[in-house]
Formats: sequence, structure tokens, C-alpha cells
Amino acid sequence: MADSNTRVRAYLGITGEDLPLDWMDVFGGPRPLEVEIGFGTGEYLCQIARERPQVGFIGFEQAPGRIVKTRARIEAAGLRNVRLLFWDAVWGLQYLFSSGSLDAVHCLFPCPWPKKRHAKNRLFQPRVLSLVNDRLRMGGTLTVVTDEKAYAAWLMEQVPGTGFLVEAETHGARYGTMFEAKWRAEGQEDFYKVVLRKEQALSSLCQEVARVRIYDIQKMDPAKMVLRDEKRKAAITFGEIIHDQTKAMAMVLAIVTEEGQTQHLWIKMVRGEKGWSVRAAEGSLALPTPGAHRALALVSEAAVLSGGRA
Ligand SMILES: C[S@@+](CC[C@H](N)C(=O)[O-])C[C@H]1O[C@@H](n2cnc3c(N)ncnc32)[C@H](O)[C@@H]1O
Repeated sequence: MADSNTRVRAYLGITGEDLPLDWMDVFGGPRPLEVEIGFGTGEYLCQIARERPQVGFIGFEQAPGRIVKTRARIEAAGLRNVRLLFWDAVWGLQYLFSSGSLDAVHCLFPCPWPKKRHAKNRLFQPRVLSLVNDRLRMGGTLTVVTDEKAYAAWLMEQVPGTGFLVEAETHGARYGTMFEAKWRAEGQEDFYKVVLRKEQALSSLCQEVARVRIYDIQKMDPAKMVLRDEKRKAAITFGEIIHDQTKAMAMVLAIVTEEGQTQHLWIKMVRGEKGWSVRAAEGSLALPTPGAHRALALVSEAAVLSGGRA
């Protein structure tokens, strides 16, 4: 598993050439694919992976400690059909999967953000439902289970126009996850399941993932470059420019924050026979988001200016 996980990470290069991912390659053959969003400590993910070894499961989680626990659980169970990503699931769905490639998406106990003024933070906004619809095959399902009746009602209100049919059910505890156990211990008996079945394809949201450009620059001097941070749709902060003594190669770290996510992108400048190239460094773990494109453009602009300075 370590090998395949390393391969998944290696795929997440900035160029966009390998996106969406070739999951057949990751899993070593064709398989139905299912995603769990926010798998916590992995009880449910491991259960469904054990029950359906023919399916490839991809889990997204943002809490590192929970990923470590889930990984140990996967290894103890000897499961080979699960991959874990320490990622925001929305970005994952957007960049890693092609249209119609998923059979199912599961999410147990999403953060309910119960206060009205925090409702904008709830995960399944219509935009995200439309994205999930696009990534599911026809008839594929998004299943959401919550301990909050009001959250289930809110979720169903978001559905019109997103291409799903809704089924709802109230049931007892059945998933054995950490959060289900927590609510049970507090005396909760009823849980609310909402199943959204894709019945209509929306016009495709599977935009081409634009490759991040390589900028060719005739003349520049890394020692004279001045980089300015920027705070627009994406907030971009640059580290110090590091260059070698011959000034034939330089690197700079760009920290790019957008849509509540942060990426660390190393940008490399290398002098060749015909001039310089400015590009995302190989192995830099970043996605070709608008902020990443902008960071590269800013570096290339600063590089051009540095070439003109006396
Ligand atoms: C309330 S917990 C539920 C965990 C688990 N499903 C369970 O039932 O025990 C919600 C989990 O979702 C994760 N999460 C929230 N938003 C996420 C996102 N956009 N992508 C991936 N994970 C997310 C959080 O880190 C957290 O572990």
C-alpha cells in the first residue's frame, strides 16, 4: 500500500498533466470507485472496504491524527483497496476525478454548523452537490448521515437543481464510527440518513485542469528579484528567494491560500542555454488552482523586471 500511496502523492504534481488521476493505475486495474468524505478514524471506511474488496475506496480527511489511526486500522486488516488522502474532499473531487467516474460518495456526520450565521460553512452547498453529481455515474449515490434533524432538512432544501432524487430515512445506530458512538453515549437514538441518487446529468463541470505554465525568460537576475505578496481572491505569500552561487538556479516558496485551503508551492528558476525557465518545482505538492497559476505569473513578472535592472 505504501507504494501506491506514494504514487498517488507523486501524481499530485503541479503541472496538471496527470489530472484527473488514472485510478485504474493507482489500484492496478479497473474497479468501481467510491469516496468517503471525512472518514474520521476509519471504522466505516474499513468496514465497507472489507465487505467489497472489488471496489476501490478513496478517503479524504483533514485531521492528521485521524488519518494515522485509520492507516493503522487498514494495515491491521490487511486491506489493499483503500487509499487515504490528507486533503479537502471538495478539491479532491474537483481535481482528481473525471466526470461520471464514481459509483458512490459517503459522508457520515459532517460538521453541522448549527448556527444560522455559520450555515455558509456547511459542506453540501448546491455548488458542491452539483460537483458530486458530475463526478457520479448515472444512478450513483451520495449518502449523508447526520445526528441533526435540522441538518438533514437543510440538506434536502439544497437539492433542487442539482440533478438528484432524494430518499430520507431515520434509523438507529448502525455505522460504529467514533462520532456515532459519541452521540449514542449522550443518549441519541435516532440518526438521519439522506440518500441522493443521480437521476440527471448537469452540464459538465469537469473543466479541463489547466496546466501550470512554464515561463521562458531571456534575462533575469535572482539576486535582484523583488517579490510582493498579494491578497486578492487567493492570498499569496512568498518566502525568501534562495539561489546558488553561480546564480544559475533559484527557488522560492509561495504559500497560496484560497477557498479556505493552503498550498505550499515551490517555484524553480533555472538558467539554460537559451535563457531562463520559471516553473513549478518537480514534486511540489500543489494543485493547479487559480492561486497557483497566479503565484507563477507573479514570479515570472518579477523575474522579467529583475533582468532589466542595472
Ligand atoms: C464530525 S467528524 C465525523 C467523522 C467520522 N465520519 C465519524 O463518523 O466518526 C467530521 C470529519 O470530517 C472531516 N472533514 C470536514 N470537512 C472535510 C473536508 N472538506 N474534506 C475532508 N474531510 C473533512 C473532519 O476533519 C472530521 O474528522
